[in-house]
Amino acid sequence: MENLISLVNKIQRACTALGDHGEASALPTLWDSLPAIAVVGGQSSGKSSVLESIVGKDFLPRGSGIVTRRPLVLQLHKLEEGSREYAEFLHIPRKRFTDFAAVRKEIQDETDRETGRTKQISSVPIHLSIYSPNVVNLTLIDLPGLTKVAVEGQPDSIVQDIENMVRSYIEKPNCIILAISPANQDLATSDAIKISRERTFGVLTKIDLMDKGTDAADILEGKSYRLKFPWIGVVNRSQADINKNVDMIAARRREREYFSTTPEYKHLAQRMGSEHLAKMLSKHLETVIKSRIPGIQSLISKTVLELENELSRLGKPIAADAGGKLYTIMEICRLFDQIYKEHLDGVRPGGDKI
Ligand code: GDP
Ligand code: NA
Ligand code: MG
Repeated sequence: MENLISLVNKIQRACTALGDHGEASALPTLWDSLPAIAVVGGQSSGKSSVLESIVGKDFLPRGSGIVTRRPLVLQLHKLEEGSREYAEFLHIPRKRFTDFAAVRKEIQDETDRETGRTKQISSVPIHLSIYSPNVVNLTLIDLPGLTKVAVEGQPDSIVQDIENMVRSYIEKPNCIILAISPANQDLATSDAIKISRERTFGVLTKIDLMDKGTDAADILEGKSYRLKFPWIGVVNRSQADINKNVDMIAARRREREYFSTTPEYKHLAQRMGSEHLAKMLSKHLETVIKSRIPGIQSLISKTVLELENELSRLGKPIAADAGGKLYTIMEICRLFDQIYKEHLDGVRPGGDKI
C-alpha cells in the first residue's frame, strides 16, 4: 500500500498546479480538505531552526526582517540508509538539487519572483520535496512569522496581512498546528499559543537560554499550560553555532545529550527533541489522513465531475495542459480508490484480503 502521506502530497501538488491553494479558485474545497501541519510562531521564535532540525539540513533563507513571505509546503520523503539526499521544486520539474545552499537561493528567488522584490507577502505556496535517509515521511507548511511591526521597506499593512494569512490556514478544521514558542519568553504572550488548543502541538524552543534558576519542566510536563498533545522541548543551534557551521546531525546529537544529562529534564528525555517531534508528527499525520479518507475520496470524485462538466460545457477540444491536469486528478482518484478499498478491507472484520 502506498504511503498515505505521499499520496496526499501528490494531491497537494496537483491542487497547486490547478491553481487551488485554498483561496479564490474554481476548486476551493479540495486543498482545504487535505490534512496539513502548519508551523506558526512569532519572529525569531525558532521556526526555521525547528524545520531545519527536522530535515537535518541547512536549507532555509536567513536574515533579519520577514524572510518567509510565501507559504513553503515542505514534503519530506524517507529514503533508504546510505542513499544520497536531494531536493526538488514543483516549479522546476525534473531538476534535482543536491546542493542545499542552492535550495536556499531558489526559495529566495522564487519568493521574489512572485512578490516582485517588494517585500510583500503572497499566499501562493512554494512546493519543495526533500528526499533523504535522515527524514521521516512528513509534510509541513512553513508560514510567515507573526510580527508586531513592519521593518524598513515593508508596508505597514504587512503585519495584518501575515496575521490574516496565518489565520486562513489555522482556522481550517483539517489543519494541525505546530505552535513554536521560545522558553525564554512568557508563554502567555506567545502569539503561537493563542489558538485552538485542540489541534495544537506545542514546541518549546531555546530551553538552553532560560534564566539561571528557572526551567521549563512544569510546561513540558503539561502542568502549567495544558494542550491536547504533550509539549515537546527542543534545543536548536544558537546563532554562534550557525556562524561556526555546526552541522545539523551533530546538533541533533548534542540536543539528545542535553535532555538526557540535564537533571530537570532527564525524566522527560525520551519524549523531547526534534527527532522525537518529527516521528510523532508523522504518526499523527498518518492517523488523521486515515480518518479523512472517505471525505477526501468523495471530494475528489466531485472535483473530477466538475472538471468534466466544465470541459464539456466549453465544448472545445481539451487543451494539452488542461487535459494533463485532468489526467493527474483522475490518476490520483484511481489511487485513492485503491487505498480506500484496502483501508476498508483492513478494518472490516473478516474482510477478504487479496
Ligand atoms: P524564526 O524567525 O522563527 O524562523 O527563528 P530562527 O530559527 O531563525 O531563530 C532565530 C534565532 O534564534 C537564531 O539566531 C537561532 O540560532 C536562535 N535559536 C533558535 N532556537 C534556538 C534554541 O533552541 N537555542 C538557542 N540557543 N538559540 C536558538
Ligand atoms: Na528570522
Ligand atoms: Mg524563519
